Amino acid sequence: MIDQAAKLREMMRAKHKDEVEKNHNKKARVLAISSGKGGVGKTNFAINFSISLRRLGYDVVILDADIGLSNIEIISGVSLNSSLSDIVFANKDIFEIMGNGPEGVKIISGGSGLKELKLLDGDNFNKLIGEIEKLQAATDFIVIDTGAGISKSVINFVMTADEVIIICTPDPTSLMDSYTLIKSLVYTGFTGKINIVSNLVSNRNEGRDIFNKLHNTVENFLRVQIEYFGYIERNRLIRNAVINQVPFIISHPKDPNAKRINIMAMNYLDAKFSPLEKGRTSFAKRILDIFVKRGD
Ligand SMILES: Nc1ncnc2c1ncn2[C@@H]1O[C@H](COP(=O)(O)OP(=O)(O)OP(=O)(O)O)[C@@H](O)[C@H]1O
Ligand SMILES: [Mg+2]
Repeated sequence: MIDQAAKLREMMRAKHKDEVEKNHNKKARVLAISSGKGGVGKTNFAINFSISLRRLGYDVVILDADIGLSNIEIISGVSLNSSLSDIVFANKDIFEIMGNGPEGVKIISGGSGLKELKLLDGDNFNKLIGEIEKLQAATDFIVIDTGAGISKSVINFVMTADEVIIICTPDPTSLMDSYTLIKSLVYTGFTGKINIVSNLVSNRNEGRDIFNKLHNTVENFLRVQIEYFGYIERNRLIRNAVINQVPFIISHPKDPNAKRINIMAMNYLDAKFSPLEKGRTSFAKRILDIFVKRGD
């Protein structure tokens, strides 16, 4: 029997392929992956979700915005020699600083060089804007792997995105910290869609439970809507995949968690999307704002 998810994927691929081919001048949809608490599975989700989008026929660039240890490099086994700041300091273009991740997913390191970028003059500022605009026109999705918590840097990165996925676990502190992150985003003026993924759960009900608790609190106290995006069970395979630096969707494509990620990717593509550009500065300018004006 043909695997139903595979059949569905094939249909989706055919449906979207035409659109992708028609679309010479793209405008990437920007998605931030974030969390209140660290170590909850953001990077793991970002890489596997990006591969899933890629398999559906899209161009995906992951922007590794985690300042400090480059998470994506560790999880995907790719090593990046350049970062955004090399556009200015090594005179490279955006395509030269991209690393080749698994299955054609591209990776850009954005985290390092923040301090130097603060010193940009007008010409260099415009050059960087131009390169980021090129990036947005050349890819379908930009997935930003942010750090954890409510530091200014994390909030600023999420604020550049059209939508956010917040990863939450059954740990009560994770629930609390997710709420705090949502509150900070709302207070900072984030108006994009807020999606929740429950990770490290034992079953579907536990995944839903986490969302319901968060949903009730957010609705009562913040009066904004959040959406349930899906769940991923705690699984030894994922732990091993991280240790082996091979994303689990590649090493175990038939694992139920891999199928869940594929379904989330398909739902994401199908969900109504309205970019938040009206009356808003461009993604390129928003990113540069972080580096240049408030890059701490
Ligand atoms: N569903 C899962 N099942 C088992 N282990 C998992 C699962 N999700 C994540 N992990 C484990 O949790 C660890 C942290 O995951 P990951 O690095 O993706 O988290 P993170 O939120 O990006 O962390 P940080 O905040 O440090 O960037 C991984 O090394 C992996 O071992
Ligand atoms: Mg990470």
